[in-house]
Amino acid sequence: MDSSKNQQNNNNNKSSKVTSTTSLGKRRSLNKRARNRAKGHQRREDPANSTMSSPKASEYGSQASPLRQPATPNEITKVTILGAAGGIGQPLALLLMLHSEYVQHLALYDLVHVRGIAADLSHVDRQCKVTAHLGPDELTEAVRDAKVIVIPAGLAQKPGMSRDDLFGSNAKIMYNLAKVCAQVNPSAHLAIISNPVNSLVPLTCEVYQRILGAGSRKEKSADSNSALSQPAAPPASPGAAAPAGSSAQKSAGKQQQQQQCFHDCCRRIFGVTTLDVVRASTLSAKSAFFKPEPNGLFKDPAKIAIPVVGGHAGKTIIPLLSQSTMKVDKKRLIEEKATTLTLIESIQQAGIEVLNAKKGAGSATLAMAYSACRFTISLLRAQQGEPNIIECAYVRHQQPLVSDLEYFAAPLVLSKDGYVKTQGFSLNKLLPYEQQMIEEGAKELRMSVAKGEDFAKEQLSSEKL
Ligand SMILES: NC(=O)c1ccc[n+]([C@@H]2O[C@H](COP(=O)([O-])OP(=O)(O)OC[C@H]3O[C@@H](n4cnc5c(N)ncnc54)[C@H](O)[C@@H]3O)[C@@H](O)[C@H]2O)c1
Repeated sequence: MDSSKNQQNNNNNKSSKVTSTTSLGKRRSLNKRARNRAKGHQRREDPANSTMSSPKASEYGSQASPLRQPATPNEITKVTILGAAGGIGQPLALLLMLHSEYVQHLALYDLVHVRGIAADLSHVDRQCKVTAHLGPDELTEAVRDAKVIVIPAGLAQKPGMSRDDLFGSNAKIMYNLAKVCAQVNPSAHLAIISNPVNSLVPLTCEVYQRILGAGSRKEKSADSNSALSQPAAPPASPGAAAPAGSSAQKSAGKQQQQQQCFHDCCRRIFGVTTLDVVRASTLSAKSAFFKPEPNGLFKDPAKIAIPVVGGHAGKTIIPLLSQSTMKVDKKRLIEEKATTLTLIESIQQAGIEVLNAKKGAGSATLAMAYSACRFTISLLRAQQGEPNIIECAYVRHQQPLVSDLEYFAAPLVLSKDGYVKTQGFSLNKLLPYEQQMIEEGAKELRMSVAKGEDFAKEQLSSEKL
């Protein structure tokens, strides 16, 4: 990889800009009709008023509407892919390009091959600029001004490897990328695909926390076991309140501010678990729990949204079949336990199935690119003010959702500033075996989170950041 990287660097001293602008001809005539139809598609629900009810299929994980008006010259939305030359990066770039109503500038960054890929992609007839950025010297330019930065950079699994086995190589890659993203473009939304997601998201949040500075490093290490690394303290009882203006009150106020600052940067950092949701829909649609259509085909998976919570590895992938948007007989889920568990296991092990079928030629790339595209478009739709956009993702929560776990995948309401809150997730509503799976997954998640946080803290300290 190093030699090809050097060769590429020699051949290309500057970041190349390949612009593809094509006549939209036929598409223009469709715009009026599209606008009219788009009006009918607008959702009126205010996310702030939404409750803990299960999302409807039309809302949760909904397909991006192809009906949005094309961009105006003043509205150029840039999306950056870090790791754009890889098995996921390439099809993802193509799929995003096909959504030029949402993406008008695609910036492709990698250590290899990226100029050729950008040249190739730039011939697709969409009104979307494509730029290539090769190697660390061009990283800053790649991430500057991007609305969303999608990260599939790093090694992928080989048969016999767990996602956690990738930590050794991918943690360092993610750490270096996160530092630049936090320094150059902290307001971009980050979609982390690289594995192990369960550790790399906490790692990235630590880097953001340190670089975006909720206080100096000294203050932070003093506070590291209090304000920033713990859930917010419950409000003190009136009798116990510190006197106004006292140093205790000032310090509590500062801690609260730091806590809020940390949360505000973390709510734009997402671990992409959409592939688990997509697999849960598809594999459930094909399962015995849903009757086939009269023509013999299985149910349309797009109509079956199943929240997948926890994390993105083995037993931390927890599909909540009881919360499916298409009615499923809960009694059957309990009584036919063997069928239920087989279905759940097939969702958890779907990545391994692909790994083994590819016989060492990579892990899931196409379904992943599709899923990452869907998630990116959802982020952009939310950024543009569309209400009620809901996707599952692995994020840091200000208040732990499950016991002491700050990091947990759950259905989230997205907004222009990141996620706002969880939607439709409540432990009490779950079946007993689902609650048990969450308890078991939590043990693994705790270790993965600590691993990512410890790595980041060590690196940041050694660099005196
Ligand atoms: N979240 C999920 O659901 C999910 C699903 C599948 C795969 N993945 C993960 O996504 C990652 C990518 O998978 P892939 O199949 O595309 O792998 P790949 O090896 O085909 O591509 C990875 C790309 O990253 C590039 N890269 C390596 N180091 C880099 C750096 N420092 N900066 C920029 N680019 C760098 C490589 O040059 C390569 O082009 C893996 O970690 C894999 O485990 C996640």
